[in-house]
Amino acid sequence: MKCYLNAERVIGTVNPMIYGHFAEHFHRQIYGGIYDPTSRFADEDGFRTDVLEAMRNIKVPILRWPGGCFVSSYNWKKAVGEGRVAVFDKSWRIEDPNTFGTDEYVKLCRKIGCEPYICTNAGTGTAEEMSDWVEYCNLKNEGEFAKWRITNGYSEPHNIKYWSIGNENWGAHEIGARDTKEWGRLVAESAKMMLHVDPSIQLSAAALTDIDWNVNLLKMAGKYLKWISIHEYFDRLSAVYAPSDYETAMARTARLGRSIESVRGTLMMFGLHKQIRIAFDEWNLRGWHHPFVHKNLTESPDIETVLKARDKNDTNSTYTTADSVFTACFLNDCIRNCDIVGMANFAPVVNTTGAIFTHENGIVKRSTYYVFELMTKYMGESAIGTWIEDVPVEAVSGEQIKMIDVAAATRKSDGALTVSAVNKHDVENRELELVLEGGAAARKTVTVYTVNGASKDSYNDIDSEQVAISVTSFAVGSDTVKVELPPHSVNVIVIE
Ligand code: AHR
Repeated sequence: MKCYLNAERVIGTVNPMIYGHFAEHFHRQIYGGIYDPTSRFADEDGFRTDVLEAMRNIKVPILRWPGGCFVSSYNWKKAVGEGRVAVFDKSWRIEDPNTFGTDEYVKLCRKIGCEPYICTNAGTGTAEEMSDWVEYCNLKNEGEFAKWRITNGYSEPHNIKYWSIGNENWGAHEIGARDTKEWGRLVAESAKMMLHVDPSIQLSAAALTDIDWNVNLLKMAGKYLKWISIHEYFDRLSAVYAPSDYETAMARTARLGRSIESVRGTLMMFGLHKQIRIAFDEWNLRGWHHPFVHKNLTESPDIETVLKARDKNDTNSTYTTADSVFTACFLNDCIRNCDIVGMANFAPVVNTTGAIFTHENGIVKRSTYYVFELMTKYMGESAIGTWIEDVPVEAVSGEQIKMIDVAAATRKSDGALTVSAVNKHDVENRELELVLEGGAAARKTVTVYTVNGASKDSYNDIDSEQVAISVTSFAVGSDTVKVELPPHSVNVIVIE
């Protein structure tokens, strides 16, 4: 396949927040994951230092919290300061000790060096409660909530810039689900109060690709929003745990880009495409497995059965090169559409279907972890258009899919040309011929960083790392660079 690149053909700036992550009070993500005062890796605040280090290494730019469905009955006021009491979390049907709350979350973000992004309770919560939360976090010392924060030991405001109103309030599964009109009204009223407290915050609101939903939301509340929140899970596992194999996962790449086009179209209808960006603030190839909530509500198995089912998400062998390849394709799509996609949060960051898995004696970096490492360390920020010829298209699990996926950008720090190139084929190499146009022709050194394993089913587990990063480099003397892309590989090609 031939790909023409010209560093002058800049299509936009990639917001580093597309490499963001998410952490929810679900199973072992917070408690027993990032936050585990009983772990031998815990620091003085109870955070696992190995997890912090791994998150810093992939330069996590933004971390969405506390849910997810969890937030739809969450009362933030019960999880700050002294005298916290454990509560029953009605979303996930389990007790939450409330020892990890807003102040611990902000502390965590500061230790990682990432932006906090709070998703508010728009299920059982009210506009007032959401704006009280902004007061607590962002006001200097006015009013009872800022004073409460100071009493709790935080004299300076937390200054949280990114806030989302609600989670998936469009869905019957969510506590406090709304219809389209109710939603537009609630978002508008909540946004007003939150912005009256701190006009510098940036608001998002739960949305869908559904036109009716978005039309009502944008009509009633569009003027208050800077973001529109869309969730994307492609391999639905919530009720039955039967993860897709490599081929089916690749077939699902055919769906990438559809929501971007649909939401872009609706934003354009309202002339809001310059003001509002898409935040894929939960996304992953794999959905989470949690039977006995959302559906099957009348079945109430004992808590051990509920938790045992959730443990299935932590089966490391599920996360193969299918996950690394899919993840890179998703991120490539965000890069190519950087004019409208400004944030994406891999869901979640730790445990469940996340990039990092914790165990008693350390962590496992799953295949997806290394994709974030390549992208955040080597990919550039000035996205450039690519002109592609002869893209191989093949039928895989009933879908016609492009076997190679490419996104390109130049790096601001040194002007290097960077190309993220994925070969989805399960067994065959594919040659990628990069034709360097314009000023790009003067570049002479090529370094290829590759995430791959020996087979498409390779995965990482405790004491066995089958998927890793390898590096090759070579000199180039002409305006054409040929790179052999191994099967099921993710590559970032840096041309200097
Ligand atoms: O399946 C897990 C969940 O996915 C998150 O809590 C929710 O926001 C989404 O439906």
